[in-house]
Amino acid sequence: MQEAQSHILNVDREIEQIVDRSEQHALARRDASMRQAKTAVNASVAGGIITLVVALSLTALIVRSINAPLRRLERSMTAITRGELDAPIPSPGRDEIGAMASTLGMLRDSLIERDRLEHERRRAEAEIRAARDTAQAALRELNAAQANLIQAEKMASLGQLTAGIAHEIKNPLNFVNNFAALSTELLDELKQTTRPALVALDSDGRAEAEEVIATLTGNLQKIIEHGRRADNIVKSMLEHSRGVTGDRREVDLNALVDEALNLAYHGARAQDQSFNITLERDFDGKLGRMQLAPQEMTRVFLNLFGNAFYAAAKRARENGDASFRPTLRVATRDFGEAVEVRVRDNGTGIAGEIRDKLFQPFFTTKPTGEGTGLGLSISYEIVTQQHGGTIDVDSEVGRFTEFTVRLPRQGNSRGAESRE
Ligand SMILES: Nc1ncnc2c1ncn2[C@@H]1O[C@H](COP(=O)(O)OP(=O)(O)O)[C@@H](O)[C@H]1O
Ligand SMILES: [Mg+2]
Repeated sequence: MQEAQSHILNVDREIEQIVDRSEQHALARRDASMRQAKTAVNASVAGGIITLVVALSLTALIVRSINAPLRRLERSMTAITRGELDAPIPSPGRDEIGAMASTLGMLRDSLIERDRLEHERRRAEAEIRAARDTAQAALRELNAAQANLIQAEKMASLGQLTAGIAHEIKNPLNFVNNFAALSTELLDELKQTTRPALVALDSDGRAEAEEVIATLTGNLQKIIEHGRRADNIVKSMLEHSRGVTGDRREVDLNALVDEALNLAYHGARAQDQSFNITLERDFDGKLGRMQLAPQEMTRVFLNLFGNAFYAAAKRARENGDASFRPTLRVATRDFGEAVEVRVRDNGTGIAGEIRDKLFQPFFTTKPTGEGTGLGLSISYEIVTQQHGGTIDVDSEVGRFTEFTVRLPRQGNSRGAESRE
């Protein structure tokens, strides 16, 4: 029994040892596996962090590689929208942004092309407009030239007519004048010889006879006076139709105009002491000297100034306004190949209806005895035929009249040789 008991105790002890050992073993294994598990957790945390960092870096890289070209593209688009067509466009790559860049490039090219076309169109339009203006100017010049030709033709035939009439009238007029002079002398003789016979008459008869003789003398005086006027008219008609033959020389046109102005002014003052007018001279110092027929041109200016004085004096007389100051302004201008003289008065002005008759011979609005109507006609002839220039008039009734004489410096010798 004891043996059995010790045996059981032994067995117990052994079992206890076995249990202890297996417990220790199990503990050791648990510790080992817990260590393993901890290592595994640490490793996976580290891996996770690394993955996260890598993933974040990759994302940042990708975002940057998309954003930067997009921003460059956006800048280009804004610039092009603003019209800056030379703004740089990012070079097209193979991705979508590259496709957008190349589309933007195409858009820019088409905008440039459109601009070029628009520019071209505007240039063509300007050219067409210039061509049209030139054509219109040419047409206007042609019309003016045609009008001038017609006028010149009219003047030429009127000139011939004038000459014919003057020649025809000259002879009978000479007879009238000569016989009137002769008759006056004869009447004087008659008075002398009949004096004794008259004394013998009764007072009534004598008075009657003397009255008849006085009337006859008066009539003859009138005939002589008007005959002289008619003679003057015929003379200027002949002078007119003879045309212009004056010698040409090189003259200082400013000096010539000035001289004519003084002549005209003093002439007008000599005729009428009350005559007064303000003279304004605006001479272009660059005018210099030029070839012309000085006597003929002086005639032109004397006539223009005379007409201006007349018109200004007439307005002063008629309008009765004390503040009105008759003024004549003479201006000369150099235009290189031509020169211009403007004669402007603030007189009565010229009504539109008569403006195209001004240059016709015998056209006058002045009362009989005051004008022959030949001044402007002669002036026209001298300026256009002899000097190859033009004479134009601008006027406003009751305000002003301005005659513009334009003379070319070169080739103004037409007419002088061709006439007579
Ligand atoms: N400066 C002027 N102002 C107003 N009328 C003018 C002027 N110059 C010329 N005329 C008009 O032109 C007409 C013709 O002038 P002109 O040929 O010189 O002849 P005249 O002086 O003998 O009348 C004048 O009668 C007048 O009606
Ligand atoms: Mg006149």
